Amino acid sequence: MSAQPAQFQPDSPELSLTDAVSEAAEVLVVGAAKGEDGPVLLGGDLLADSELLEELKALGCTGGKGEITKVPARGAVPAKTVLAVGLGSVEAEAPTAEQVRRAAGVAARALAGTKHAATTLSTVDLGAAVEGTVLGRYVFTAYKSDAGKAPLGRMDLLVADPKAAAAKKALSRSAAIATAVATARELVNTPPNDLFPASFAERAATLGKAAGLKVEILDEKALAKGGYGGILGVGMGSSRPPRLVRMSYAGGTEAKGAKKKPTVALVGKGVTFDTGGISIKPAQGMEAMTSDMSGAAAVVATVVLAATLELPINVIATVPMAENMPSGTAQRPGDVLTQYGGKTVEVLNTDAEGRLILADAIVRACADDPDYLIDTATLTGAQMVALGNRTPGVMGTDAFRDRVATLSQDVGEGGWPMPLPEELRGDLDSPIADIANITGNRWAGMLAAAVYLKEFLAEGVQWAHIDIAGPAYNTNSPHGYTGKGGTGVPVRTMITVLEDIAANG
Ligand code: BES
Ligand code: MN
Ligand code: ZN
Repeated sequence: MSAQPAQFQPDSPELSLTDAVSEAAEVLVVGAAKGEDGPVLLGGDLLADSELLEELKALGCTGGKGEITKVPARGAVPAKTVLAVGLGSVEAEAPTAEQVRRAAGVAARALAGTKHAATTLSTVDLGAAVEGTVLGRYVFTAYKSDAGKAPLGRMDLLVADPKAAAAKKALSRSAAIATAVATARELVNTPPNDLFPASFAERAATLGKAAGLKVEILDEKALAKGGYGGILGVGMGSSRPPRLVRMSYAGGTEAKGAKKKPTVALVGKGVTFDTGGISIKPAQGMEAMTSDMSGAAAVVATVVLAATLELPINVIATVPMAENMPSGTAQRPGDVLTQYGGKTVEVLNTDAEGRLILADAIVRACADDPDYLIDTATLTGAQMVALGNRTPGVMGTDAFRDRVATLSQDVGEGGWPMPLPEELRGDLDSPIADIANITGNRWAGMLAAAVYLKEFLAEGVQWAHIDIAGPAYNTNSPHGYTGKGGTGVPVRTMITVLEDIAANG
């Protein structure tokens, strides 16, 4: 047996609203903006008369992005220590939400080992301060014998009126969102020997049932009976058979006669490990393919979050899970599969497996007659070639694609709209099947994959496809509120889109 931890849910810090710094706080976090003549501290009246600014400057504080400067408070404020965290230059009147979120994340990472801190960042943007704090303190220690310094225990959030209903609401919403992101990270970070299709499906079911969702798991027998050729084909090489998980949240049931509430389908790629299959990947860096289920993790976390936030819409998640392995039972390049719904595909490259499991899931999801469908996947290395490792590519039907990309930028996940040129479809023609799973060239690999998916979408469904190959998994140093490993992207984009649909249809 491997060292599978008993607890799958990330722990959370204690968060409370206050209008005064407690003596018990070990550290007071203050935002420092980079001004023309040095740093400007954001802490309102609290810091007005103190000499803290001069001391911080003497220690090199400039307000630069991500900068950390620590000084003893010496009675200037009730806390023992003041930690100034740089926001960078502030263009408008106030820092952006993302500047606050990142600064709060940098501070939370620096506060590992601290039991009790307070922050003034919440006076600028409470929600962003909460999200940055919860996400920045997140660490994955489930497999460490010695977990090291404990993450920050408690954060007091300074606000003008801690009793205000709006503040309480912002706190609980942002804490729920950040917890969902951490749940997705936890799933991504769990190693592939412990997170495989059956165990992933069980975890998803546990999370879904706890949130009151209807959960259904199709095992390999049910998949064969249903004709899910893509999921079965990809899973065929593994001794650990594939699954399809369906999780529904019905928040949109209404009194008779009222307008029908929108239904949103979510689909996420759940390849628990991608070796490439018979079209095997090089060994160098293959370990990162434990993250090839990040789309699935984000979708599971998001449908649960929609229930937690009690959104007045219906959300149905369809999550295909498979392990892509080479073996004597694996599918071969040249095999022809029948995708769910009947289209045939010539599998020219077994490493283009994500689109095969997603196509089945998209057809199944469309059978529920959704108004919108969002799918997300670590689908192509070409996403990173085009946009780098922090910017998701957003494709789909024009209006909805733009709406999703704009909201993604608003929440700091940075999704960028990309086109689906019609002429790419011809490159996927197969001489023997309805379609091939790859083109014969290297051009626009991210778009070609999306063009493949488009073939399986039902008429009239507004669609967004989010390729997160780079942004889902941070193999570089920690930055802002993002540590190493799973990032939880694009949970915040998807929940914001769901909220927007709930508000505006
Ligand atoms: N899971 C990979 C894509 C990927 C690459 C995700 C790097 C994260 C980091 C996907 O299944 C894949 O292998 N795609 C191929 C497609 C190709 C064979 C058309 C790729 O991008 O090379
Ligand atoms: Mn692959
Ligand atoms: Zn893959």
